[in-house]
Amino acid sequence: MVWWHETTIYQIYPRSFADSDADGIGDLRGIIDRLDHLVDLGVGTVWVSPFFPSPQEDFGYDVTDYTGVAPEYGTLDTAVELIDAAHDRGLHVMFDLVLNHTSDQHPWFLRSKGSRDNPKSDWYLWADGRGRDGRKPPNNWRSALEVNSAWQWSEERGQFYLATFLPFQPDLNWRNPEVKAAMFDAVRFWLDRGVDGFRLDIFGQIMKDPQLRDNPFAPHMATGFPRGWRREHTENTPDNIVLAQELHAVCAEYSDPDRILLGEVFGPPDVLREYNAGGRGLDLVFLFDFLLYEYDAQWFEDTIRRFEDSFPAPMQPTYVLENHDRSRSLDRVGGDRRKAAVLAVILLTVRGVPTVYMGQEIGMGNTYLPLDRALDPVASTYFRWIPEVANRRLGERLNRDEVRTPMQWDGSANAGFTPAGIRPWLPVNPDYPQVNVAVEAGDPESLLELYRRLFAVRRAHPALHRGSLHLISGLPADVLGYRRTDPETGQQCAVFANLGRTERQVRAVSSESVVGTGGATCADGTIHLPPDSAIVVVRQRPGPSTV
Ligand code: GLC
Repeated sequence: MVWWHETTIYQIYPRSFADSDADGIGDLRGIIDRLDHLVDLGVGTVWVSPFFPSPQEDFGYDVTDYTGVAPEYGTLDTAVELIDAAHDRGLHVMFDLVLNHTSDQHPWFLRSKGSRDNPKSDWYLWADGRGRDGRKPPNNWRSALEVNSAWQWSEERGQFYLATFLPFQPDLNWRNPEVKAAMFDAVRFWLDRGVDGFRLDIFGQIMKDPQLRDNPFAPHMATGFPRGWRREHTENTPDNIVLAQELHAVCAEYSDPDRILLGEVFGPPDVLREYNAGGRGLDLVFLFDFLLYEYDAQWFEDTIRRFEDSFPAPMQPTYVLENHDRSRSLDRVGGDRRKAAVLAVILLTVRGVPTVYMGQEIGMGNTYLPLDRALDPVASTYFRWIPEVANRRLGERLNRDEVRTPMQWDGSANAGFTPAGIRPWLPVNPDYPQVNVAVEAGDPESLLELYRRLFAVRRAHPALHRGSLHLISGLPADVLGYRRTDPETGQQCAVFANLGRTERQVRAVSSESVVGTGGATCADGTIHLPPDSAIVVVRQRPGPSTV
């Protein structure tokens, strides 16, 4: 079994994790200093969002040098030290690769836009406009945000360039072999320094239709947002699956340990599974449905079943409740920590690789920050005109600053993120005196202790970290239940979660509770599940069971 099959991932947004040099911005040294928090928590792999040189217009997702480190985050030596320090503690490390686009300040783009016949002129996706004056975009492709064309006019070249995300993030031309070679060299640069793999930023959109055909108009919803056009010619194209295989081949040049690729891709499960390419493509792809979970047993059952069907072993589903782009999961249940505990149990006991976003383990919530003062370019460019009252009511956060506020370490000024008297780059959530690592540590009722227990239980039980998953039928409609079975040892665990408002009972002969929330108990073959509670039980003797 390769290491990452059994791993768990913790996402660090470096700007907001820990500030070691008192400039109000988190940095790599801050991460190194806090690695023991991750060891205490019990995670297996750390994913660090981008820290490469960048004008920071999209806070690192706009790169100007793929093999450097932005000065506010540290130096190349600190990055290497981070890898080594993590390895010393038994952690794996993934970095974040933004392959689709660079910053418009990247020297490649500055050169490329200068003329139509310079050595970098074909490194980005340039096209002539339509219409009599050539000022109409080349086709109907929309940006990721849908509200504008993906094409941006360049006065200098008298042509359009493609920018799938924001206008200052021009898309690279991956059909140019020089681009591919340069980017693969950047990948090797970090693999040579020992990184264990990569999270791949908007990977699904890299290879576009070379004929620039229009996308078909078909209004629909996608991951919670309305879309006008199907992205037939711009997302998850057959060539993109080929690119996943080529990238896999680069990683396969390295071994001991095997290196891992985790894609940020969007689409239906039967499309996403193609990226695995029989184990020769992306090892994992995020399944974002949990980001938009409905607190409902049937919803979880249907979602898990769908992904079990599409990602059978040895494929691994990759569930995620939160990340740096989406609402904190706690806010989706109105700040109810009992419900957050149930969600934690589900996330860490379903089959697959769970990802936890920094602060999720202590129950950090969204920090309301008005759109008109957003630093996030998505909010400040596109949504600042939405009335604040309407913005407050939305389930999704348009201003991603709200989910990126500093990690809350303790009850001291600035929550221990940066020293007192220093202004953090984003305000600290005012709930920090009650919600922080120090205050929750050792409190058996806290979310932090629950997460620690869940990670420990998961590690200790092969059924939970590598077993099969079987959904249990015949339970009350508001109870979710599944069995995990390790084929090698025969160990069996079962998980029950009551997401309803009525106390429920379930038979579970010869079972012992290993972790429970919300007052769930298991005694004399019966599991009691108060509303909003969950339990993990292990079978004491293999054999027939009522669960
Ligand atoms: C991904 C990142 C997001 C970033 C965007 C553009 O969706 O998660 O934070 O702004 O790509 O790189």
